Amino acid sequence: MATVQLPGLIDAHVHLREPGYTHKEDFYTGTAAALAGGVTAVLDMPNTVPPTDTPARFAQKAALAAAKAVCDVGLFVGATTDQLDAYLPIAPRACGLKIYVSETFGSLRIEDLGLLHRFFRTWGEKATEMAGDTPHSALGPVAVHAEELMLPVCLNLSHLYDVPLHIVHVTRRSEIELIRRAKDRGYPVTCEVTPHHLFLSSDDLPRLAARGDMRPRLATPDDVAAMWENLAVVDIFATDHAPHTLAEKAGPTPPPGVPGVETMLPLLLTAVHDGRLTLDDILLRCEENPRRVYGLPSQPDTFVQVDVDARYELSDAGQRTKAGWTPFAGWSVFGKVEKVTLRGRVVYDGDRILADPGSGRVLFQSV
Ligand code: DOR
Ligand code: ZN
Repeated sequence: MATVQLPGLIDAHVHLREPGYTHKEDFYTGTAAALAGGVTAVLDMPNTVPPTDTPARFAQKAALAAAKAVCDVGLFVGATTDQLDAYLPIAPRACGLKIYVSETFGSLRIEDLGLLHRFFRTWGEKATEMAGDTPHSALGPVAVHAEELMLPVCLNLSHLYDVPLHIVHVTRRSEIELIRRAKDRGYPVTCEVTPHHLFLSSDDLPRLAARGDMRPRLATPDDVAAMWENLAVVDIFATDHAPHTLAEKAGPTPPPGVPGVETMLPLLLTAVHDGRLTLDDILLRCEENPRRVYGLPSQPDTFVQVDVDARYELSDAGQRTKAGWTPFAGWSVFGKVEKVTLRGRVVYDGDRILADPGSGRVLFQSV
């Protein structure tokens, strides 16, 4: 048995579903699942009901998180077609602006070039106005779900408006190669890849059926190989934890998305065991880079103790998410989280969540 101490990990892309979809997840269950996965800070997406697109809605979501979360939570604001610039006054309290440019779950899709211009321009203007005034000195990045031809559109808008761009869940060879080229040219771009797009491919679809459906979809084995070949271009591993219940997944119109916040670390540690990754690869992409990209405050006295040699089988029953399943059920993995300490307090003992609801912090709220 080899217990290793890691810093608390950051999952920079989760959907904790409050308000509006609390039958899928809530701030307590989602952050408890995070702690069980060795994650002590999560960044929550705005495609809730209502969406996180006005100061009042942002404040409502922040209050829900403050009351229930057991790990730290940053909140994205979302670009919407009807509220337009309404979120700008509270932009400094958000970890970033999320724009859904490609097909997704929920109603937040932006398909109009004029609107995209406007969001990049106003976010850039606000960042310039804030520079030097806030703990994260400017604003977080614009984070986009932009697949295929929408990727170069967003890359160019970011370049033209000089606004940092973060590409969420990259999946295709063409996309990662374009991002590599943009980085080589000095574009202000970073990107993330999910564990499911690293460890699953379209070959797994017959087995997984609707449980393997998400946006972006599982890619071809060649696309998956491209993620591994271009690991140096990948700034962040983030889960896109997108819980939906098994009943929804088995229904006539299964929503896209898979849970993942509690399986990321064992999957990545198994890749270390197999010689495909190093521990430093994980720490760079699950702690150092998300903290840098989003300007997150450090978490003092925060550690994860994990037995990297403990081998066990992932199962639906073992998941804390309200979704109650994982696309990796039956997989044999290495890496058992034994203890999580957040700001000096043991919050998870390998079995039970010991933190009180509301002991997690909502990030950036004092600005
Ligand atoms: O599969 C997905 N599920 N992709 C998204 O972009 C959204 C997410 C969700 O919220 O369920
Ligand atoms: Zn997402």
